[in-house]
Parts: sequence; structure tokens; C-alpha cells
Amino acid sequence: MKAVILAGGTGTRLLPLTRLMNKHLLPVGKLPMICYSINKLKEAGITEIMLVTGRHAAGSFIEFLGSGREYGVSLTYRIQEEAGGIAQALELAQSFVGADRKFAVLLGDNLFEEPLNSHLERFRQQQGGAMVLLKQVPDPHRYGVPVFDSNGRITRIDEKPVIPRSDRCVTGIYLFDESVFSLIAHQEPSMRGELEITDVNNTYAAQGMLEYGELSGWWTDAGTFESLLEASVKLMELSP
Ligand code: G1P
Repeated sequence: MKAVILAGGTGTRLLPLTRLMNKHLLPVGKLPMICYSINKLKEAGITEIMLVTGRHAAGSFIEFLGSGREYGVSLTYRIQEEAGGIAQALELAQSFVGADRKFAVLLGDNLFEEPLNSHLERFRQQQGGAMVLLKQVPDPHRYGVPVFDSNGRITRIDEKPVIPRSDRCVTGIYLFDESVFSLIAHQEPSMRGELEITDVNNTYAAQGMLEYGELSGWWTDAGTFESLLEASVKLMELSP
């Protein structure tokens, strides 16, 4: 299986730290944030990885990570010219993923403890479609939040709802089959003018093709000062 790490965006919630530095290159514990996504994929046996980032940061990523050889992976890079949403960034990975393939997508600011192996195995057995990983959180309104039917299936995901319908959030760990690219191609931009990953997942949900797993262990999205600090402390503990 191949994987795509999305490491673009403007990092506005972390300004001024992100004025000169892409969020995913900021230090977390002893490493730049991007290293954790790469390590998690490597741990799960995924070594063919595409990194999608913005034009200004690309040079720093290449300088730091190179071909990926030092990390035991093979890296391919693509540039997202303007911030057009997670789904737009993902669309750039189509030729890298190729036809008839299932693949993994990580948002580069999602830091977590559990190895992905068992989730990937379940997804390999799944008849196409998509899988999201959920995590119980104290503040679901900050994230995508699943809505379940009486059989425990996800009927839809509400993006940053004022009144969350669950105490679980959808993490930035997604597993897709190649049909995701035609879904994105037919997608309309959201109110904020971006192609949203939640709209993609909602299309799968409407087709009855969205499965989910529960992520165990520690997880955070290190996109705010508080969560970046929490991630640093936790990752120092986990790998002293
Ligand atoms: C994105 C997704 C959201 C998800 C979150 C996980 O939000 O849109 O559904 O819960 O990542 O990190 P963002 O962090 O881009 O606001």
C-alpha cells in the first residue's frame, strides 16, 4: 500500500510560529513534526510515500528529508499551489496512487500512538470504499464528528458542529480506494471555497461505503499552541 501525507496549509492558528516555517516542520519533542507521520507509516510497512505541501515550504522539506532513504522510505513530492482544501491537496496524488489501489492518507499534524497495522489490515479486507479512524475527545466541536444510525453505522460527518452528536471525532487518518479521485473531481467547493475532506467522506457514507475503526492510545492534532505543547510533552515521554 502507498500513502500520502498532507503537509500544506497556512498554519494560521500557530502564527507567528508559522510565518517562516511550515507547521509540519515545527519541532515536536526532538523531531520536526513531519517525522512522526513518516515513522508511523514505516512502522506499518508503508514505504512509498507522497508528501503534498505548499510552494514556499517544499524546498525545506526536500532539504530535510531528501529521498527518504535515511528514514527507510521512498518520498515523492507534489506542490499544492494555493490553499484549496484537504481534498484538493489529495487530488494531486492521483497519478502517484495509480489505478485499482487502496491507499492511506495522513494529515501531517495528526500525532498518535497506536500502530496503524491492524486498521490497514481491516481496510485491505474491506470491499472498497473508505475508512476513517475515530477518537474520543473532550472537545469534538473542533473536529469532524460522526453521526451514527441505530446499527452503529456512520450516516454522515458534521464538520466542526456547534452541537456535536457524538463525543468522538474523525481523526486525520483516512483510508481510501481509488474511487476517491472521481468523487473529488465531482465535488463542489464549500462555503469557505475549499474542497473538504468531510464532503468526500460524506459521499462515501451516503453510498454506504464508509467504515470506521477506533484509534486506541494517545492522539492529538497539533494545530494549536496547546495541542502542539501537549504533543511535545507526550512524544518526549514516549521516545525519551
Ligand atoms: C481536519 C478535518 C476534520 C478532522 C481534523 C483532524 O480539520 O476537516 O474533519 O477532524 O482535520 O485533525 P482541520 O484540522 O483542517 O481544521
